[in-house]
Amino acid sequence: MPAEMISEETPSIQGQPAEGLTADVSATLRTSTVRADTSPARRIPLAFGDANIPAPSVLAKALATHTHMNAYGPVEGASTLRDAAAGYWTRRGLATDAESVLAGPGSKALLYALVLSIGGPIAIPQPSWISYAAQLRMIGTKPVSIPISDHDGGIPDPGTLATIATAARQMGTPLKAVIVTLPDNPTGTLASPETVEALCAVAREHEFTIVSDEIYRDLVHDPAQTFLSPSQLAPERTVVTTGLSKNLALGGWRIGIARFPNSEVGDALKANVLGIASEIWSCASTPVQEAAAYALSEPPEVTAYLDSARELHARVAQAVMAVFRSVGALTPLPAGAFYLYPDFEPLQAALWSARQIGTGSQLVDHLRQAHGIEVLPARVFGEHHDPLRLRVATSQLYGTTSEQRAEALNSSDPANLPWISDQLHCLERALRGLCES
Ligand SMILES: Cc1ncc(COP(=O)(O)O)c(C=O)c1O
Repeated sequence: MPAEMISEETPSIQGQPAEGLTADVSATLRTSTVRADTSPARRIPLAFGDANIPAPSVLAKALATHTHMNAYGPVEGASTLRDAAAGYWTRRGLATDAESVLAGPGSKALLYALVLSIGGPIAIPQPSWISYAAQLRMIGTKPVSIPISDHDGGIPDPGTLATIATAARQMGTPLKAVIVTLPDNPTGTLASPETVEALCAVAREHEFTIVSDEIYRDLVHDPAQTFLSPSQLAPERTVVTTGLSKNLALGGWRIGIARFPNSEVGDALKANVLGIASEIWSCASTPVQEAAAYALSEPPEVTAYLDSARELHARVAQAVMAVFRSVGALTPLPAGAFYLYPDFEPLQAALWSARQIGTGSQLVDHLRQAHGIEVLPARVFGEHHDPLRLRVATSQLYGTTSEQRAEALNSSDPANLPWISDQLHCLERALRGLCES
């Protein structure tokens, strides 16, 4: 075909054939599907990161009163929700105006739109939530995985981050962003204010964006513990994302929000994410946005619910931690949410001689096949060499019926409720037997 016949309007001739994308179902979500087909009596489900408590009844009512809102809403989110989100962040020391807020169908979708807008290279902590690495691969970039320092999960070690940022710049491929998780999934820890400060200093020096995933922020177990968001120290370059899936147990409602920096970088990113939103989800569910706006205004019922949820997560996570520690697995004290990250390295020789278990994946397979215990290997969170380490989500222990879950939420001693303590005893017996031949 003569060149002059190829016009702008013939993209199929001009463009390269597109490569198809291969994506697997995330390992954590796969465990939620297994839950539906297996008999609960035979399982101790410790894999799926759902809050597993009933939705706050005031929010169920708020949702019900808005179901008549059937038309599409604004792409950026309803003004009621954006105003309420601005108030939520402002009350947490981050002065925010509604213009800086975008809503989406879950923070996961917003995170994807963000990384798609930013492009690679993007650094993530190692270990980190499964979907960061998966989403980066989906946009065609390899995640730059940087180990965390001890007990400071969710943030790449700032010294190593600085070294890698310098090397990346020298190679002509400067880092564009880092994603951090405060508090963290999978480790359950909360990075210290010093680490957040060091992170912000590196980001400023190397001029990259910080994406701060704060979806577990309201579930820091000790409300007196200092929570420092990078957006307080590097406001010009930090995007904060959060949602209602974890704190208010509304994962199935699919609602998330992002707070963009008030800067040139922030405006450009926000405009791009808005464009992506308009082409992919159009708007978040309008009735859900209205219920979320009410939740983010933090009426007393929501605050009381949150206090109970935080207490439940803390007590059960600590009871499970005690079981793992009692058999010799190194298990950091959880600071937030419902995750533990026990390390069986000290039991390496014993595990090998008793059961020829040498990797985290083998340990996971053995626990599932021999005892019906479902956990995930650290490998799926980006750890190299399949270490003898597990990610344990403790919230599925709360019960299998709405009554059990509601009772757990309202109990002052949930670990001693019969259905929870039974599972804790089974877990302990199984772990004790691991090293016995
Ligand atoms: C660290 C982290 N960020 C984001 C999400 C996704 O949350 P959402 O339900 O808002 O998409 C999860 C869910 O497991 C998570 O663990």
